[in-house]
Amino acid sequence: MTGRLANKRAIFTGAVANIGLAAAQMFIEEGAEVFIGDINADAGAKAVAQLGPRAHFHQVDLTSEPQIAEFIAEGARTLGGVDILCQNAGLQGAGPTENFSAELWDRIYAINIRAQFLCAKYAIPHIRAQGNGGAIVNMSSNAGRRGGAGLAAYSSSKGAVIAFTNALALELAKDNIRVNAICPGWVDTKFNAAAIANLGGTEAQQQAIALHVPLGRQATPEEIAPLFVYLASDESTFMTGQSVLIDGGAHN
Ligand SMILES: NC(=O)c1ccc[n+]([C@@H]2O[C@H](COP(=O)([O-])OP(=O)(O)OC[C@H]3O[C@@H](n4cnc5c(N)ncnc54)[C@H](O)[C@@H]3O)[C@@H](O)[C@H]2O)c1
Repeated sequence: MTGRLANKRAIFTGAVANIGLAAAQMFIEEGAEVFIGDINADAGAKAVAQLGPRAHFHQVDLTSEPQIAEFIAEGARTLGGVDILCQNAGLQGAGPTENFSAELWDRIYAINIRAQFLCAKYAIPHIRAQGNGGAIVNMSSNAGRRGGAGLAAYSSSKGAVIAFTNALALELAKDNIRVNAICPGWVDTKFNAAAIANLGGTEAQQQAIALHVPLGRQATPEEIAPLFVYLASDESTFMTGQSVLIDGGAHN
């Protein structure tokens, strides 16, 4: 299928590799133009080279409010308006709570939830201004629905994304701006290095997957991307405030 996002202008965070890059690729295939913000400039340059002329990259540290304000303003200028905001950037950290540093806790919260608030804060006026509704898609995790052992900071920050999504959906419904979240389970990317080490290594991870994931495997990034497209497109015009599990049946 193509054209489901024809002429849509999307601002993306964290879309230079893995899940976000797969989603940005699919957005472009479906007709969108994307403006990507990430802290990793090398990966950003490679991503736009791969994605082609309808992709733009802007280096941004999402822990900085001034940088976020500039990123969203530059995105709106470059795209000529904003229809969609996809918030995919995230940070993981794992380990026993009694050893966990407050600095890492704060950084996880800054990237996983505070940045989602700030990007939404600066993007909403642009989305509303185009007068035709719009969509915000926030990345959460199935760990935000039921926490993982050794993942208190990550799980609770992703749980906050779910409540934030629900509250923002209620606030923006009058403008026909829909807000939904995605809750993947294990996706095969390097992002999970801390969680895998905390479990005891890749063999322990495989055992956990065999025990807890009915479909018996991890997802690929390409299996998560279509949910971004669905939630951002006119295929989901009566859907808002939802946090959709996509985890091989792990959390039923
Ligand atoms: N991989 C999984 O199993 C899994 C499962 C559930 C949810 N998720 C979520 O999916 C999203 C993408 O994960 P991924 O596996 O594709 O990993 P990834 O590492 O490719 O994506 C995270 C991105 O966030 C960016 N980022 C981190 N800190 C930043 C900062 N301060 N400023 C700007 N950008 C910053 C990184 O550079 C990276 O590009 C994350 O939000 C993650 O929590 C992943």
